[in-house]
Order: sequence, then C-alpha cells, then structure tokens
Amino acid sequence: MTTRRITEHLPFGEKRDPRFFGQDILSVSQFDRDDLETIFAVAHEMYGIVERIGSFDLLKGKILTNLFYEPSTRTSSSFVAAIERLGGSVVQINNVTYSSVSKGETLEDTVRTMESYTDAIVLRHPEKGSAARAAAAAAKPVINAGDGPGEHPTQALLDAYTIREEMGTMDGLTVTMLGDLKYGRTVHSLAKLLTMYDVKINYVSPDILEMPESLVAEVDAAGIEQHATADLDEVLAATDILYVTRIQKERFEDPSEYDLVKDSYVITPETLSGAKERMAVMHPLPRVGEISTDVDSDPRAAYFRQMEYGMYVRMALLALVLGRA
Ligand code: NCD
Repeated sequence: MTTRRITEHLPFGEKRDPRFFGQDILSVSQFDRDDLETIFAVAHEMYGIVERIGSFDLLKGKILTNLFYEPSTRTSSSFVAAIERLGGSVVQINNVTYSSVSKGETLEDTVRTMESYTDAIVLRHPEKGSAARAAAAAAKPVINAGDGPGEHPTQALLDAYTIREEMGTMDGLTVTMLGDLKYGRTVHSLAKLLTMYDVKINYVSPDILEMPESLVAEVDAAGIEQHATADLDEVLAATDILYVTRIQKERFEDPSEYDLVKDSYVITPETLSGAKERMAVMHPLPRVGEISTDVDSDPRAAYFRQMEYGMYVRMALLALVLGRA
C-alpha cells in the first residue's frame, strides 16, 4: 500500500480498527492471534445478521473490484455476495482477455486503473508475489485471492473459522493436509496460520508434491510438530481435521508427471470408517475426484459448510478493511 492521496472523511459513527482499516491482505503472516479473534468475531456477527435479515447497508456506497486472472467460482462469487450483502457493489473483471490486459497492460497499470474507480481490489493472479506487486502499485487496499502457488490468505481465514465452528477450538487438534502440498496455495496459507495455535500437522502427499522445505522450516521454527508421509493410513486414526486438496494440474510443467499422481488419494466412506467419530473433512474446492460424492452425506463432511462460512469471513474482512466493522 502506498500513501493515500485523498483523505477520507469519516461519517459520524463510523468505526475504524487501525489493524485492518485501509490495509492490504497479502499473507496470513501479517496477522496475530488477536487479529484472527477479531476477524472471527466479526464473521460470527455477519453470520447472524445474514440469517436474520439477509443484507444490510454497512458498506453502502463502497465499490469493490474483483480482478481475476485465473478461474474461480467460490472466491470470486463469495466476494461479490459479501460486498452486496453489505450494501456495496462490485466491478467484476474475470475474463482478462476482454480487458486491456490482452493489449499488454501491466498488472500495476491495471490495478492503478481500478483503484481510481473503486475502494478496494481483490486480486487473483497466476504469479507468486503478484498480490504484493499490485499492493506496491496501489494506494487502496489489495486483497490477495490467490497468487499462483504462493498464498491464499482469505481461504486460510475461512478454513480456520470453519475448524472453530466444527470443532469448537483450534488448540489441541491434529490437522492432516492431503494431496498437492507443493503447489496448493491454500495449504501454504493454512500451515502458516496454524502456527499461531497449539496444533500438530501431518502432511500426506506423493513424494513429488511434498510441502515446500521453506514452509516446513517456518512451521518448525514456531515449535509445531510436523510429520510427513505418503500413507494416509499412518495418520488417519489420530486426525481431527482432514484437509483434502486437488492436485493442481495447471501448475505442472510436465503433464506426464500430473498423470502419475492425479489419482493418488480418493476419500470414500470406507476411508472414513478408519477415522474418528468426531472429526471434519474439509476441502477448499473444487474437487476433481479426490473426495467421493458418497462422503457428502457423512456428518463429518464439512466442505459445503466451509464454503458458506467463506462468505461471512469475507464480509468481515471487507467491513474491517473498508472501516465500518
Ligand atoms: C482453491 C484455489 O484457488 O487455490 N480454490 C478456492 O479458492 N476455493 C483450491 C484449488 O483450486 O484447488
């Protein structure tokens, strides 16, 4: 975020939390546990308000840009629903081939354009570090909605909120991350976020898709116990949260490598017969076969609830960043 050129006037009664107001959201590492508690508390209020009245005018007059250079269903539309439920509106750019990007415009110039029309920019882009680049070019808040294989902080926040809703707490849990831990940005952000809690983390993946060493080192430095294996059975019985991910086909340089690992794990009702009675199966979605649809009716299948919680968490983030929570 660069310096603001125009000072905003505060309407009477508007409250701002300096930890969030006007800030970029680039990585979960920018938050501490207190910040997370605030986000979850506001998300919980949003949940209640949506249940009671559907929408309200907290962000009336605010306009969000949704700038998506990569496909998205949930992240993009939950941000649209979130700003609209708060009375604001959105400029949606999700097919950059029809924008000036196809004429060769830089990310920086596109971001500068959109910030001159709107109050904050949600960005998804295929390059790691792109959200930080955009934030450096923009005076207004940039929210990272996935920077290639880098991070996906708003997903990790909604994942953590889901864990709390499902299990009542984060502390004392064993979280098992399964699938593509190399390219999966959601597990990168979630592992970083979990370092703020008293958890144990298992990584289950094919050899070529292991969690990056730098991340393992960062989690280790926070004193978190970690265990890596290719065999889910080794850790399933002790797992409280099974966080399943899609193998990220689009990130493979060699398509034959993808073919080797694409069907590595499939969660079925039979798999879950070896799991705890009280646990949650999560997935950021989309799934492409790694959780059988037969699992959907199991009370432990939390991925559809997780998706809904995402909207409340994004409502909370928009309210906090745009200064009216
Ligand atoms: C994830 C993403 O885009 O990183 N999806 C999402 O935002 N819910 C996961 C994925 O694409 O596999």
